[in-house]
Amino acid sequence: MCSVTDVTSAPATAPALLAGRRMLVTGVLTPRSIAFAIADAAQRAGAEVLLTSFGRAMTLTEKSARRLDPVPDVLEMDVTRTDQVASVAAEVRRRWGGLDGAVHAVGYAPEDCLGGGFMTAPWESVAIAMQVSAYSMKTLAAELAPLMPAREAGGGALVALTFDAAVAWPLYDWMGPAKAALEAVVRYLARDLGPQGIRVNAVAAGPLETMAAKSIPGFKGLKDRWAEQAPLGWESADSGPVADAVLFLLSGMARAVSGEVLHVDGGYHALGAPMGVGT
Ligand SMILES: NC(=O)c1ccc[n+]([C@@H]2O[C@H](COP(=O)([O-])OP(=O)(O)OC[C@H]3O[C@@H](n4cnc5c(N)ncnc54)[C@H](O)[C@@H]3O)[C@@H](O)[C@H]2O)c1
Repeated sequence: MCSVTDVTSAPATAPALLAGRRMLVTGVLTPRSIAFAIADAAQRAGAEVLLTSFGRAMTLTEKSARRLDPVPDVLEMDVTRTDQVASVAAEVRRRWGGLDGAVHAVGYAPEDCLGGGFMTAPWESVAIAMQVSAYSMKTLAAELAPLMPAREAGGGALVALTFDAAVAWPLYDWMGPAKAALEAVVRYLARDLGPQGIRVNAVAAGPLETMAAKSIPGFKGLKDRWAEQAPLGWESADSGPVADAVLFLLSGMARAVSGEVLHVDGGYHALGAPMGVGT
């Protein structure tokens, strides 16, 4: 019989899950970035990893990369610059000859799109949020899909990070519709790239304490309530459970999964009323 101790002491990642797989991970800024946990977990699972960053964030990403083992190279890629995305694809081909998987961990909305500005944010700001946070998934997929192995050779996998866009949240404002668009882009990419054997999925993470989260007004209240109300509880300082789910989706274990939004949120999304209501 399997005791609680057996379950909780199980290793978080199977060592060979991504053995020899070539992975491109966007979005590492600080060691608290969700992408950092993903890159770290992917390396532990045997993958070769390349990171991307952009503009002034490059220095910070390179500093964070030095905490990974082995230290991965960081390529410059602003996801709104198709030329830079194409250059990264060319560099990946030059180094590795192909690519097995990529992680889209990029999001941004101008300040006036968040924190109560839903009715007043101008289209110019909303357009930036949509381009960086949703359209860029298509840009990335279009440039990287040709690098992925043929269907018969196992195909490839793309994974994006979302914040459950099925409902409206306090203060998240235009990032909500941007994430809804991202989730739809994931489904359309799954449709168009599936015949090539490329799987496209998203992970809907619960609130995690990162730089991006700091820019969301009211984040602290949300994460505190999440910890109280998620059936499994929620540790907002630990991106490990999200990284493990991303690894699963990148791996052959998820070979028949595509167009999916996998919630990694302590079970919060499944409840119609908070824990404790009605007792
Ligand atoms: N932190 C959370 O609570 C949470 C929850 C669910 C989903 N997410 C999503 O996870 C992803 C990663 O965010 P995070 O929370 O780790 O924060 P983070 O601040 O560590 O990462 C956001 C990244 O986006 C990058 N970025 C912004 N604009 C870019 C551009 N034009 N080109 C390239 N990169 C750009 C930043 O450099 C940074 O690395 C985002 O999509 C975010 O919306 C976060």
